[in-house]
Amino acid sequence: MEHLLAALRAVAEPTRLRLVVLCARGELTVSELTQILGQSQPRVSRHLKLLCEAGLLDRFREGSWVFYRLSQAGPASALARQLVAACDEADPTIALDLQRLGAIKRQRAELARAYFRENADQWHRIRSLYIDEREVEAALVEVIAAADPRDLLDIGTGTGRMLEILAPRVEHALGIDQSREMLSIARVNLARAGLENGSVRLGDMYQLAVPDASFDAVVIHQVLHYADRPAAAIAEAARVLRPNGVLVLVDFAPHALEFLRDEHAHRRLGFSDAEVAEWCRAAGLDPASPRQLAGDPLTVVIWTAHRQTPTNPRFAQALQPAVPALVEGELH
Ligand SMILES: C[S@@+](CC[C@H](N)C(=O)[O-])C[C@H]1O[C@@H](n2cnc3c(N)ncnc32)[C@H](O)[C@@H]1O
Repeated sequence: MEHLLAALRAVAEPTRLRLVVLCARGELTVSELTQILGQSQPRVSRHLKLLCEAGLLDRFREGSWVFYRLSQAGPASALARQLVAACDEADPTIALDLQRLGAIKRQRAELARAYFRENADQWHRIRSLYIDEREVEAALVEVIAAADPRDLLDIGTGTGRMLEILAPRVEHALGIDQSREMLSIARVNLARAGLENGSVRLGDMYQLAVPDASFDAVVIHQVLHYADRPAAAIAEAARVLRPNGVLVLVDFAPHALEFLRDEHAHRRLGFSDAEVAEWCRAAGLDPASPRQLAGDPLTVVIWTAHRQTPTNPRFAQALQPAVPALVEGELH
């Protein structure tokens, strides 16, 4: 009971309640939160410290950035979620905070889009700058061959490289990306490779315009480090997986190459196995042991997780956030 009382005391202050609501919308830095609240950084940091101590928020440092997000585990985590659900989004203060958060996210998304717009034609060279792509691709082909999927979805398909190597192993492969420039290159690449069972479509990984349980395999290759809501992207991927379907996530292990943020629009400097496993479980997936492909200075990790079957009660729970919003579709 003591921890609950401590958490309730910590959140019983307007700015702190606003911070909890905001951090439920993604992983946010203190400077983003300061911008939204319009208060000084030391003041916001003090509030954040109290919320972390009470177990309502998680704080993690990555290079020179510090992120805050709603607590993922622990006794106060459920309370944090209940408080967020109880807050009325139409309340003028909350509505304004969310509006400002939306503006920051749009600005950030535009920066990332601009990066891919400008670098679309060089992506083939950039993607293999730090790691041996052949090794990663061979490992990925092995994983997909073992799963033997019929329908495969590639989220953040970019220039369609994953479709090129994986479409020949499935009946139907769809790639989704939010960059028109990347997709126009993907279309040329698919046509050149003669892959008639592969197509691409404009869309957002947080709101996939595809029905629930419609794919046997979902691949997210080198996309998650651009996400401000990696857990939400994983939950959305899990939604479209059939029972026993497999999610394959490929990204970097934690690293310290800060310039990838400044020069290549990365938001996260890699991911730990524990956090990826936690996000998968929360989405109703069973994580398997990850596979590390050590490189210098970057290590690539392949995480796989299987959709639980409907007889498992966590499966039903994980299906809750299941209504996809339609986004502009653009077929190959
Ligand atoms: C680093 S590229 C990787 C492309 C491809 N998976 C590969 O490995 O070659 C990341 C891709 O993710 C896409 N992306 C980023 N955020 C996205 C979002 N919210 N929805 C869909 N695509 C997104 C970008 O447009 C970009 O094409």
